[in-house]
Amino acid sequence: AEAADSLDALEAAVRGYTECPLRQGAQNTVVFDGVKSARVLVIGEAPGRDEDLAGKPFVGRSGQLLDRMFAEIGLSRTKNLLITNVIYWRPPGNRNPDPAELAHCLPFVERTLALMQPQAVFLIGGVAASALLPAKDGVLKMRGRAFTLETRGLTKPVNAMVMLHPAYLLRRPQDKRLAWADLIAAETWLKSLGV
Ligand code: URA
Repeated sequence: AEAADSLDALEAAVRGYTECPLRQGAQNTVVFDGVKSARVLVIGEAPGRDEDLAGKPFVGRSGQLLDRMFAEIGLSRTKNLLITNVIYWRPPGNRNPDPAELAHCLPFVERTLALMQPQAVFLIGGVAASALLPAKDGVLKMRGRAFTLETRGLTKPVNAMVMLHPAYLLRRPQDKRLAWADLIAAETWLKSLGV
């Protein structure tokens, strides 16, 4: 990860990394989708079945909801967003990744942040939030709040906001109103950051 001097080189490094045990059960390595020169980075959890087949993050049902959510605040992977995950290979049966699996992937995620130096980061769901933030509250407490991320290689702390995961919202549509409130907060927050 450290040797990669561009996001393209980093993507190739992830594809060439064979030590993560999740890799054996996966069809594809899922790294980035979107605009590599974007100022805003979205970090989700792990590929699911659709992403594993397509080789791209957030392309299944929850990805479609994610796209609709961000479209509400003028953000899209075709224009101004880069999308990635804290895990690059599908965990069997979509179980949560374990700490060792996260540890395999984390240096690449940190290098993504270091190379991109984004103006704002959205952490999607509790797994991504707890992998990157020191705060250990549950996602329902952290959602819609601004944090700063300080990972290795960042020239300055990065502004981050935690969002509810669209897969959770598909299971609990009654909580979509929370996500809506968070998006409105996110829009103001992005403006305050000059994004
Ligand atoms: N859920 C995630 O967190 N990431 C994906 O890429 C797809 C579903």
